[in-house]
Amino acid sequence: MKRTKIALLLQATAPANEILAKGWVRTKRDAKGFSFIELNDGSCLSNLQVLANENLPNYDEVRKLTTGSSVSVSGRLVASQGSGQKWEVQATEIQIIGLAPESFPLQKKRHSDEFLRTIAHLRPRTNKYSAAFRIRSELSFAIHQFFHERGFRYIHTPILTASDCEGAGEMFRVTTLPPSGGKIEEDFFGVEANLTVSGQLEGEMLALSLGDVYTFGPTFRAENSNTRRHAAEFWMIEPEMAFCDLQENMSTAEDLIQYLARHTMEHCAEDLNLFAKFVDKELMARLEVLAKAEFMRLPYKEAVSILEKSRHPFEYAVGYGLDLQSEHERYLTEAHFKKPVIVFDYPKTIKPFYMRLNDDDQTVAGMDVLVAGIGEIIGGSQREERYDILLKRMEQMGLSKEKYWWYLESRQYGSVPHSGFGLGFERLIMLVTGINNIRDVIPFPRTPKNIEF
Ligand code: 4AD
Repeated sequence: MKRTKIALLLQATAPANEILAKGWVRTKRDAKGFSFIELNDGSCLSNLQVLANENLPNYDEVRKLTTGSSVSVSGRLVASQGSGQKWEVQATEIQIIGLAPESFPLQKKRHSDEFLRTIAHLRPRTNKYSAAFRIRSELSFAIHQFFHERGFRYIHTPILTASDCEGAGEMFRVTTLPPSGGKIEEDFFGVEANLTVSGQLEGEMLALSLGDVYTFGPTFRAENSNTRRHAAEFWMIEPEMAFCDLQENMSTAEDLIQYLARHTMEHCAEDLNLFAKFVDKELMARLEVLAKAEFMRLPYKEAVSILEKSRHPFEYAVGYGLDLQSEHERYLTEAHFKKPVIVFDYPKTIKPFYMRLNDDDQTVAGMDVLVAGIGEIIGGSQREERYDILLKRMEQMGLSKEKYWWYLESRQYGSVPHSGFGLGFERLIMLVTGINNIRDVIPFPRTPKNIEF
């Protein structure tokens, strides 16, 4: 007989005489002559209540079942007498697959996030983490759906690269040379290679051939910033659109965030309730705003002016020409506008070479989307499509014309205005769950000095 997932069993519309469920014991309560087992198989937050009667041939063993043990249960699905659930299973057979010792670290009490990080191999068995990882899965599909519905092509950009898209130099070196070193010519690629920080540059080449494209994959940054919103390995969604200016780019970013907020509310209700109840009381209100409110759009210059006038005691300095820090971003979106904000037209001195120079010769057509609780969740821009200006910017910023010859050449053969952005997937999951540390939305996070598991 085929196993039915607990999520499906709990949605049954009629009793069933024969079912097979498999999962892990969350808790067991014993009474005289019978036991209740709460079974969870990860398919949904709810447990399946299993009634194990003393008539079972191995009832002695069943009574010894411990939290964390894995079992296979055959039986009848019947309307539950209890108040907590609609259905329960009267077991006709219980096979013990793997017995967990009494020392199984996840007991019924609540454990701290810090402790659970030390047992990352087991934490997906808790309610909070299984819910977070189900939402991660659901939103991955929703992202593909969003782009597919709009005719975008899903492309795959390389993980191993010889270029530094963001020009920040925060890259992980990839080499086959021995630890003692060696000549670069003897290295695998014969040139310096790194893990990608962004698929954008290659994405642009495909947009300039296929029209609207997106990549969704892992990216890597060796920034030594131990913050709650930075990881060394994270996933990024990067759409790139040909014949698209900054305004349209902003609209796409806004549509995407709203679509994903709505999708989470419509398709992840049970898991979302858990976060709204135990993790972030403001979550539902925030999601409502995200899904409905028109995002505020304002130039960087105005954003700086608002921050300066606020007299808020910021830790980091505010001023034209300085990058916005997380506390500034959050002030704008949380305290000032109380809705998502898109800041655009940044000074060229604080943004990468590829952003399109505005007519004022001082700012570039870059944009960041800022949201409550996180700050920057999206970074993007209209790209510089004019060969001469791009070349000049690259020279000013000390980038090698020879190394980026292919990128420059794309501006010589039918160049067109185009734009795109990068949405940090983990920050998105933080946003829709209220989880406030990036380490807790990634099953096996990589941060400075942390690569166990
Ligand atoms: O603003 P960023 O650096 O933009 C780019 O990489 C562009 N090339 C994207 C593009 O235009 N195609 O990063 C984009 C987003 C950020 O807004 C943030 O959400 C996320 O990626 N991000 C990180 N997420 C987790 N950990 C880190 N260390 C991150 N760095 C960036």
